[in-house]
Amino acid sequence: MKTQVGIVGAGPAGLTLSRLLDRNGISSVVIENKTRTHIESRVRAGVLEHCTMDLLNNIGIGERMMQQGMLHHGVELRFDGNGHRIDFTKLTDQQIMVYGQQEIVKDLVSAHLSENRPLLFEASKVKLKDIESESPSIHFTCNGESQVIECDIIAGCDGYHGISRPSIPKDILKIHEHSYPFAWLGILAEAEPSSKELIYASHDRGFALHSMRSSQLVRNYIQCLPEENINNWSDDRIWSELQLRMELSDGFSMNVGKIIEKSVSPMRGFLVDPMQYGNLYLAGDSAHIVPPTGAKGLNLALKDVRVLSDALIEQYVNGNNSGLTAYTSNCLNHVWRAQYFSAWMTMLLHRYEDHDSYQRQLQLAQLRYITESTFAATSLAENYVGKY
Ligand code: APR
Ligand code: PHB
Repeated sequence: MKTQVGIVGAGPAGLTLSRLLDRNGISSVVIENKTRTHIESRVRAGVLEHCTMDLLNNIGIGERMMQQGMLHHGVELRFDGNGHRIDFTKLTDQQIMVYGQQEIVKDLVSAHLSENRPLLFEASKVKLKDIESESPSIHFTCNGESQVIECDIIAGCDGYHGISRPSIPKDILKIHEHSYPFAWLGILAEAEPSSKELIYASHDRGFALHSMRSSQLVRNYIQCLPEENINNWSDDRIWSELQLRMELSDGFSMNVGKIIEKSVSPMRGFLVDPMQYGNLYLAGDSAHIVPPTGAKGLNLALKDVRVLSDALIEQYVNGNNSGLTAYTSNCLNHVWRAQYFSAWMTMLLHRYEDHDSYQRQLQLAQLRYITESTFAATSLAENYVGKY
């Protein structure tokens, strides 16, 4: 196979990049190592910044999102036994859209296949060759046959565990990383949301988050230890811990229901610099991970592919490679901003085992300031909706 851009990974980054390129007459082939069913059912992120929502609408796949997604005008911070609302619309004139990542993947895959554009599932033994040359290639096995994609450029959109980043020589990449001493136990449950908007709770027992996917499906998280054994968490224990951390004293009550999925995810900040090597460009989770407290992972992945597609269009249409040369520095700008906000939200809301009462009171003082000062609330709001 020959194409202009070979794309590894059919997550939101790879599929959106392919669509952006196609709309500008640039060909691509996407390969994915999992099945279509797997990528369309995997529960991942769910909060879209205003500009992510605009991007999906502009590339013509926003219809279901606009019908089934939930537009949120604010979030609630809960501490001191009370809820405190941050009003995004009033403070920033922007909103967020709550719509599951796997729904976006479904919309992108169905648009991709209906236009008969190449997308190969279950590609195994994927290897990148000659990435520093003018003619890089992707080698893999599909349906028992060895295949090769010859291309000008490879986009490594294969997530944190993919093969693209490890294909770059180790001494080229500077890795910046930070591991947190806690993780999130996440559940998906058949229950009506307990509030119209997301609730971030900071409690002496630890952080908790109430989120949702539809009017009948909730997504909740509890801060836990990184080595937490999920088998120690019965459904009853999960619900009662969530209720304790949400502090129901002010009359707020939590709907419970059947838990249909639960898992523990580590919390880390990670990024590589540069995000490119020769003719390989990394985008999304393959280049960076943010702690999920700021809800930025998916939004960042789409910001990268926007920068990459603009650079590729400039290269193919005008013969100007300055965007490709500046790809890393253009991306690291938004990546570090999101790292900063995500780390700040994480530090603000989580329980640290080694904190003394003085440090806990500092967290609470900051939370009170954020909810009482319009300036401080605006700072949180504009970062959260992605205005800056
Ligand atoms: N070959 C082909 N595909 C691969 C390979 C490989 N060797 N390794 C991984 N993949 C696929 C994965 O199966 C997955 O479908 O690459 C895709 C990467 O998709 P994501 O992990 O969703 O990454 P990305 O598109 O960058 O989106 C980032 O994911 O983790 C969330 O919070 C994060 O929402 C953000 C989003
Ligand atoms: C989610 O709905 O999965 C979600 C929401 C907000 C976050 C993280 C995850 O900060």
